[in-house]
Amino acid sequence: MGQQVRDGFVELYGTGPEGVWSAPGRVNLIGEHTDYNDGFVMPFALPHTAVAAVSKRTDGVLRLHSADVEGGVVELRLDDLAPETDRNWTAYPAGVVWALREAGHPVTGADVHLASTVPAGAGLSSSAALEVVIALALNDLYELGLQRWQLARLCQRAENVYVGAPTGIMDQTASACCEEGHALFLDTRDLSQKQIPFDLAAEGLRLLVVDTRVKHAHNEGEYGKRRAGCEKGAALLGVDALRDVAYDDLDAALARLGDEEEIVRLVRHIVTENHRVERVVSLLESGETRAIGPVLVEGHASLRDDFRISCPELDLVVDTALASGALGARMTGGGFGGSAIVLAEAADVDTITKAVQEAFAAAGFTAPRVFEAVPAAGARRLSRGTSSR
Ligand code: GLA
Repeated sequence: MGQQVRDGFVELYGTGPEGVWSAPGRVNLIGEHTDYNDGFVMPFALPHTAVAAVSKRTDGVLRLHSADVEGGVVELRLDDLAPETDRNWTAYPAGVVWALREAGHPVTGADVHLASTVPAGAGLSSSAALEVVIALALNDLYELGLQRWQLARLCQRAENVYVGAPTGIMDQTASACCEEGHALFLDTRDLSQKQIPFDLAAEGLRLLVVDTRVKHAHNEGEYGKRRAGCEKGAALLGVDALRDVAYDDLDAALARLGDEEEIVRLVRHIVTENHRVERVVSLLESGETRAIGPVLVEGHASLRDDFRISCPELDLVVDTALASGALGARMTGGGFGGSAIVLAEAADVDTITKAVQEAFAAAGFTAPRVFEAVPAAGARRLSRGTSSR
């Protein structure tokens, strides 16, 4: 896709870009809604990427164009960029430029043409991919010398403040830092990371992503409500973040919350979910990959019953997959739609896929999109200058 995006740039702007970059979407294996509680997550990168051809400008203008969206080049003045003024896709790249400048980095403009294969609204981090690809491009072109985790932080700020979605740091870090063949065990408190080898094919396993096609949006309230509830829980328990509630102290902590029923459910999810991430890491490290299946299923039940962010389509994927022999399945990402993941023996994949498709048809749901996910590379530069590919 790099060459196509480069050609698109030439067509639009009449000259070649200074480079082409890509940044992937992600699925999260386990660790949901833990990232804004200073907890653990374990995403891996998808082969689906946002690709951007970019050149610097010196006149304070940002020109943006996407091959995926109808309409021409959007031209913005950097001095006019202001939080929560843009409801379009352009808010993601413009937000990154805003965040870089806010942080004091001397970005003076850019021409951008991009295209993405990350399905939008599917819980697969299409927005983080857009943010990270721009951040990496500008970091290289303006020689800012920022590290990957710093780019992720700036992208999160773009999303939180400029776009106005109160998300955590997982998606941007996944897009910026994941490595091929690995899942990323990330401590969102200090962003320390460990790459965990995750080669399912070598063990005769597969991981399917099932996009329910139910669209979700994180700036529409429910996500923020969960986040506020978790923060209230931490305050009631006298800790900085729910990460600080140890799994072994969970019952005592819940007792202290008394009749705050909703907070009890949120706290229970976060504390048990952090524990599930640690269990999955240790199972993978000891080569017991199949044993992570039941942990994924527990995670789904917790998101459905305690965190209450599943939906009938996601539950149907999980229930149908398990009934057709999957080793594990759960919703992935922010919830209220989006995608589920299914861990299965390679030999069972066709049966499970068919069963899910039939169950959706029988329920009268839109046909889901099913694809296999193999851990892919994080963000990177694809080419330099105008002539290279
Ligand atoms: C969305 C957010 C992430 C994270 C997940 C849930 O993807 O962008 O920060 O909170 O939901 O785990």
